[in-house]
Amino acid sequence: MSTSLSRKNAFYGHFINGQWISDQHTIAVMNKYNKEEIGRIGRASREIVSEAVTNALETFNTRKLDSNQRYEILMRAADIAKERKEELAMILVQEVGKVLKDARGEIDRGIQTMIASAEEAKRIAGTGVPLGQSGNDNKMAFTIRVPVGVIGAITPFNFPFNLTIHKVAPALAAGNTIVLKPAEMTPLIACKIAEIFSEAGLPAGFLNVVNGVGQETGQYLLEDERIAMFTFTGSPGVGRHIKSSTGIRKVTLELGNNSPNIIHKDVPDLDRAVELCVTRGYVNAGQACISVQRIYVHRDICDVFVEKAVMVAQRLKVGNPADPSTDIGPMISEKEARRAEEWIQEAGRLGAKVLYGGKRRESILEPTILIDVKPEMKVVCQEVFAPVISIIPFDSIEEAFCQANDTKFGLQVGLFTSDITLAMRATLELHFGGVIINDVSTYRADIMPYGGVKDSGIGKEGPHYAVQEMTDEKLVVINL
Ligand code: SIN
Repeated sequence: MSTSLSRKNAFYGHFINGQWISDQHTIAVMNKYNKEEIGRIGRASREIVSEAVTNALETFNTRKLDSNQRYEILMRAADIAKERKEELAMILVQEVGKVLKDARGEIDRGIQTMIASAEEAKRIAGTGVPLGQSGNDNKMAFTIRVPVGVIGAITPFNFPFNLTIHKVAPALAAGNTIVLKPAEMTPLIACKIAEIFSEAGLPAGFLNVVNGVGQETGQYLLEDERIAMFTFTGSPGVGRHIKSSTGIRKVTLELGNNSPNIIHKDVPDLDRAVELCVTRGYVNAGQACISVQRIYVHRDICDVFVEKAVMVAQRLKVGNPADPSTDIGPMISEKEARRAEEWIQEAGRLGAKVLYGGKRRESILEPTILIDVKPEMKVVCQEVFAPVISIIPFDSIEEAFCQANDTKFGLQVGLFTSDITLAMRATLELHFGGVIINDVSTYRADIMPYGGVKDSGIGKEGPHYAVQEMTDEKLVVINL
């Protein structure tokens, strides 16, 4: 059973074989700003998870959609999401606490991700394999790409529309079936995604949703050996657990970062760099894997940078995410805001100076600028995942590269410079999945390859790259 969000207290159980099934065990979903209950979801037992996997596997084994059907369904889903943009954005405002303008932006991005995935459905191809060089001229060989089977998708709370689409849409484009376990803090949008695909004509069984708590429902999913591949976005701790629980099955892991951004003294436009660093440090209250965290600024321009950064931060409006003029809303929970506040206080005790912000009211943490930080402080060496940025001066570019690389993470890094040679050097010397020149680490176009090295994960997202991950390359040899 399901009810629409427009009614108070929407209820979603689990979506299995194209039907909502109810569950006597439920979890409340709260509005992250006013803390009112906005809905409830089910809490899937091992039996319910098993039923969802059985259904996904039976569907995979008995029902195929050709590439044109997959394209059409994905395009129709994009059209439906376009029509419902405001309703979907309001769900993000309520269940994430995302400010309205960013919520609308996330829906737009998710629609683009669906369209790009639809296009990929028509382009899945292997390669020719020349065997002549090994003296096999009497053989012809090529590869084809085939779907992996049932994909287990475990999605995060911070971009629960677009990051769920980044898993569901390429998986469908590639011809797989899916069991989706959304973050329990923000599950309502994922339930809407299931409804949208159903309305777009996706037959029953291709997309199943099991709601529940990560350690329980997510764990049952991990333990089901019939799932061929897992795709996960979330914390490195959970990523490690998934990797160690899944044996030789495929995994894509999109994990954290403590994103560095380097502003060299030859920055082409200082005002633009400051504006980007500050506003992109506070995007979604800093709860993005690539939000700006460590800002290394050449000492010659550091004082001016700091002064301008405070001016940008002062301009930002903090508060109710439903107000279209708000820039920064609440964090996902008071617990998380308190944790970030404690990290700021720890930095203070170790000698850092809070130049702006630093205070918390329930789950709202003020946008914060720190200076005089040290590499061992948590706000620097861990992923802060809160609206907290640190500005750190450097004297030589080698020192800046060294500090940027001095991390267990490696997702994306930003560098601002007018020197093309330095920019090219950076692409080789900065150890990250993405090096962004003259924009911040937060830059992401949804079609680009997105994924990190080191503790930031394994594999790439972005529809074309996700389709590669979600298909197996099969060799065909013909004896002539
Ligand atoms: C993430 O937090 O990894 C996603 C950021 C984005 O897609 O903008």
